[in-house]
Amino acid sequence: MGIAWSRTVLADERRLSAAELARRVAAPGFGEVTTEHVVSCRWSAEREWHDAEVLPYQPVPMDPAMAGLHYGQVVFEGLKAYRQPDGAVAAFRAVEHAERFRRSAARLAMPEPPVELFLESLAELVAADRRWVPADDSQSLYLRPVLYGTDASLALRPAAGYRLLVLALVVENFFGTDAPPVSVWAGSRYARASVGGTGEAKCAGNYAGAFAAQVEAAEHGCRQVVWLDAAEHRWVEEMGAMNIFFCYGDRLVTPPLSGTLLPGITRASVLALAADLGLTVEERRVSLADWRADATSGAMTEAFACGTAAVVTPIGRVVERDGGFAVGTGPVAGRLLAALTDVQRGRVEDVRGWRYRL
Ligand code: PLP
Ligand code: COI
Repeated sequence: MGIAWSRTVLADERRLSAAELARRVAAPGFGEVTTEHVVSCRWSAEREWHDAEVLPYQPVPMDPAMAGLHYGQVVFEGLKAYRQPDGAVAAFRAVEHAERFRRSAARLAMPEPPVELFLESLAELVAADRRWVPADDSQSLYLRPVLYGTDASLALRPAAGYRLLVLALVVENFFGTDAPPVSVWAGSRYARASVGGTGEAKCAGNYAGAFAAQVEAAEHGCRQVVWLDAAEHRWVEEMGAMNIFFCYGDRLVTPPLSGTLLPGITRASVLALAADLGLTVEERRVSLADWRADATSGAMTEAFACGTAAVVTPIGRVVERDGGFAVGTGPVAGRLLAALTDVQRGRVEDVRGWRYRL
């Protein structure tokens, strides 16, 4: 599409010193440490995508009547870039993230950012902040594109103007350095998504609507909410920020993409890698009652969460309103974690073209 970029990149003397940068990324957690630049691009019906800029990280202007703020017309993506053994930087499955971003935007009646614009935005941001891409295996650069309606109008209709921002953050394990296996909360009476709703879109409102259950989870000593289907409150769908897999020995089971859960790119990657490892895979519904019975009998050997943030994280315990049960841990989650991170970090050949060089 050949969009023109304007670049306002910090001069060397205005950048953080190497010592200050090292201090900031020493224990970054997940979500706190942004880099020194941000990408911004605008959309309007007359001009389509325009004003593509790389800027020093800074606040963005907002009208108090901004549509995205009032009516939640906001979608985002989350993907990671990794330092490769030869020093290059590669984002994991960037094209698939771009395509999901477009589907999320379409669901919220927003303009769909072209894949090329998405990819160029990542490349521009990483070029400006390349020194922030961690070399350490426990960290990565989390890239966060977000698109929102900017109209200064409370009229209840899709906005006529939008802004795309792309941020980069240095992150470490989502659950902290010593967390896994995690406990999960399956006792919530809330529902995340129903048929025909926005469950398969990565829209901001899905997360806001999940926070009350996340607070309950924390009160029960859990790190994630297990979401059950809204209609019967019976079938396991996914978790707050990750998909779920069950292992029966060498057989992997994951809930099918029903339209109410996020089609995770890590989920799709695990399905592909599992076949390489000689595991069989099955997409079928599992009820919470099956999970309890099969984990207790030992037929189900492991369960794990997967997502960009969580990578592959074993689940150790399920907490319910009246009790709960333990879930076995075993080698499968670890084997898949190793296979996945080997591709992401460039330690094995990229046979499926999953690494996108930035
Ligand atoms: N489910 C939800 C609700 C999520 O927020 C995420 C994270 O993006 C996932 C699943 C996993 O998706 P992915 O593997 O594409 O990061
Ligand atoms: C991701 O893995 O990108 C997520 O969705 C987690 C994020 C919402 C913190």
